[in-house]
Amino acid sequence: MADLVTQYAGLTLANPLIISSSGLTKDSEGIRKATDSGAGAVVLRSVFEEEIMAEMASQKKDSAYQHPEAYDYLLDYSLSDYLKLIEKSKKDCHVPIIASINCTGSSSWISYAKKIQAAGADALEVNFSILPTIERVPHPEFEQPYYDKIDHDAPTHYQDSQQLEAIYYEVLQELHKHITIPIIFKIGPYFTSLINFARTLDAHKVSALTLFNWFFTPDFDIDTKEVIYKMQLSDPQSMGNTLRWISLLQQEVQCDLSATTGIHDAKSCIKLMMAGASTVQLCSVIYKNGFSVVQDFLSEINDWMDSNQYASINDLKGSIHKHMDTQVFNRTQYLKQYTEARK
Ligand SMILES: Cc1cc2nc3c(=O)[nH]c(=O)nc-3n(C[C@H](O)[C@H](O)[C@H](O)COP(=O)(O)O)c2cc1C
Repeated sequence: MADLVTQYAGLTLANPLIISSSGLTKDSEGIRKATDSGAGAVVLRSVFEEEIMAEMASQKKDSAYQHPEAYDYLLDYSLSDYLKLIEKSKKDCHVPIIASINCTGSSSWISYAKKIQAAGADALEVNFSILPTIERVPHPEFEQPYYDKIDHDAPTHYQDSQQLEAIYYEVLQELHKHITIPIIFKIGPYFTSLINFARTLDAHKVSALTLFNWFFTPDFDIDTKEVIYKMQLSDPQSMGNTLRWISLLQQEVQCDLSATTGIHDAKSCIKLMMAGASTVQLCSVIYKNGFSVVQDFLSEINDWMDSNQYASINDLKGSIHKHMDTQVFNRTQYLKQYTEARK
């Protein structure tokens, strides 16, 4: 029987499977099902930066809030419900509970992280994405409402990649001033120099990186000309980019790596841990097949580890680098297929 206990972001997990942040973990019923499934940890659905900003604005009766269309909707959801959800989950569940904030680049929400810690969350995953299309002032200063600072008369100014990345580092530094629980950044793949970016987050003491976020991609109907909102689940082909970067990053950073996107079977979980992931997050596969997949995966991982003489997750983690030349993950072009075809 292999030892599936996993160290992740300073937490001890009974096994490396995590139920990732989504509608599956939006309420106590979902969280109970997630913990009963046997997963090693659960990430709660994200509370959105906009929700925090809306609540702050309402408390201040701030009529200058810049997103009136979102404002009414956002006020329907009370942030205190999220804190209560954390408290209840901690009381009812025996696995680590990771809270989640969805952040799009402002820093004004950071003080809210203190409340998340006080509610008992074991760690905070910050789902962080800045789509670099939004006109921004060069550098938001901390402790001031971000939305108030947009100068609408100024010529359009887009921040360059260095300025955008600096926002991630600053948010991380600022979070460290407010909370002591582990801070995990869940990021997307769109960085010009991902290794440098990840190493800088690592140097700023991020506890773990979750790679990669599965972004909502808008679509529209060509007949009705309306936006199509539908549930977008991943498929197994979506995993390739995560595998590449887990493999490339594992020798570059000290922090833990958690794999997400496109993980639909036990073999993929094993593969990602061999590449260097400490944990593997499951979402779409559970939407498709239910929480029972967790036990199926755990039993297959355990059997495979036993028959391949891996005694623990620690033995498994990063082990592929001893067996093959993982430089292949640096390759982006298809040369081999063409040379093989000539033979
Ligand atoms: C319906 C749905 C809701 C999601 N909500 C969140 C969320 O609130 N916060 C977050 O960080 N990720 C969210 N995600 C992303 C998932 O946590 C996960 O990273 C992504 O779906 C890729 O994993 P998968 O291939 O296993 O689905 C959501 C995904 C789906 C499908």
